[in-house]
Amino acid sequence: MILVTGGAGYIGSHTVIELLNHNYQVVIVDNLCNSSEVILDRIKKITDKNFKFYNIDVTQKDELKKVFEENHIDSIIHFAALKAVGESVLKPLEYYKNNLVGALTLFELMKEYNVNNFVFSSSATVYGNSKICPIREDFQLSTTNPYGATKLMIEDVMRDLSKANENLNLAILRYFNPIGAHISGIIGEEPNGIPNNLMPYITKVATGTLTELSIFGDDYNTHDGTGVRDYIHVVDLAKGHLKALQKLEQNPGLITYNLGTGQGYSVLDLVKVFEEVNNIEIPYKITSRRPGDIDMCYADPTKAFIELGWTAEYGIERMCQDSWRWQRNNPYGYEKEDHFLDMGTC
Ligand code: NAD
Ligand code: UFG
Repeated sequence: MILVTGGAGYIGSHTVIELLNHNYQVVIVDNLCNSSEVILDRIKKITDKNFKFYNIDVTQKDELKKVFEENHIDSIIHFAALKAVGESVLKPLEYYKNNLVGALTLFELMKEYNVNNFVFSSSATVYGNSKICPIREDFQLSTTNPYGATKLMIEDVMRDLSKANENLNLAILRYFNPIGAHISGIIGEEPNGIPNNLMPYITKVATGTLTELSIFGDDYNTHDGTGVRDYIHVVDLAKGHLKALQKLEQNPGLITYNLGTGQGYSVLDLVKVFEEVNNIEIPYKITSRRPGDIDMCYADPTKAFIELGWTAEYGIERMCQDSWRWQRNNPYGYEKEDHFLDMGTC
C-alpha cells in the first residue's frame, strides 16, 4: 500500500492516477486546504479504480496514526505542503509549521510503524540563484524564501536520517516547473485566487477571466530577455515518482534526482507556443521584474535517466495543449462544479 499525502493536489492527483494504472494500492491523505473533494471522483472516473481517502492534516500525529493502524503502508510519497513562494514570505510561520511538522510527523510514524520507503517533493528552488545551467544535483544548495527553506530543511533531515539508519530508503525529487494536465481534461491545476505561476495565468487569460498577462521583465540575460525555465509535463513528473518507488525497492539508501526536461523556454516562447497550438491570442504587456526571479533555470536530468531509466516524453506543445484542454473544460476549476451540483439538488 502506498500512502500519498497531498494526493488530491495538482501533482499528487496525477501521480495517484499513474499508481492506480500500475495496480498499486493507494491511500490518500489530504486536508483539502488547497484542493477539492471533486478531484477524488475524477481520479476514479479516469482509472476505474478505487482507493482510500482520509481527510486528515499531516501535522496531526494522533489522527495520522489511524492511517498507519488501519493500513499496511509499504511506502510514502509526500506531496502535502503549502507551496506559494510569495505567500511564504508573508506567512513564514504557517509555512514552517505546515511543511516541517508535516514531514517530521511522517518520519516519526515511519519509525513507529517500520515503514522504510519515502519519496519527497523537493524543488529546483533549493538551487537558489544558480549562475550555471543546466543544473546538476551536486550543485551548491541555498534558498531565498521561507518556502524554499522548508524544502532544504526537509532534505537536510532526510540526509541525516539516512546516515543514522541504513534501513531507510529515501528519495529526494527536485521538480522544475510542472505544467500540463491529464489528457482527459478533467483534472488539472487550479490555484486559489489570481495565479502566481505563468501557465495558470496564461490559461486564465485564455478563458477571459483575466484580461492580459504581465511578463515580468524583458531585460534578463536570455535569448529574448524574458525568464527561462524548464517546463515539465505533470504526467511525466508523475511517472518519475513510480520510477523512484521502483528504485527504492532495491534498497539504495538516499537518492536525489532532478525531474526536468533539460530544455529551457522563455516566457515569450511559452506564450507563442500556447497561441499557436491552441489557436488563441494571449494579450500581454511587459512589466518590471518580479523580485527574487532569476534569469534562467533548467535541469540536467541525466542522472534520473541513467539511474532510474526516466526521461520526460512530452514536449512544450503537448504541455500547452493539455493545460488549455483542462482549463477550457473547467474555466472555474473544481469549485464551480460543486456550486452547480448544489444548485441542482436544491
Ligand atoms: P497542491 O497545492 O496542488 O497540492 C498539495 C496538496 O497538499 C493539496 O491538495 C493540499 O490540500 C494538501 N496539503 C497541504 N498541506 C497539508 C497538510 N498539512 N495536511 C494534509 N494535506 C495538506 O500542490 P502541487 O503543485 O501538487 O505540489 C505538490 C508538492 O510538490 C508540494 O510539496 C510542492 O511544494 C512541491 N512542488 C511543487 C511545484 C509546482 O510548481 N507545482 C514545484 C516544485 C515542488
Ligand atoms: N512570469 C511572468 N508573469 C506571470 C508569472 C510568471 O512573466 O504572471 C514569469 C516569471 O518571471 C518566470 C517565469 O514566468 O520568469 C516562470 O514563473 P513561475 O512563477 O511560473 O515559476 P518560477 O520558476 O518562478 O517558480 C516555480 C514555483 C516554485 C518552484 C520553482 C522551481 O513557483 O515553487 O518553479 O520548481 F520552486
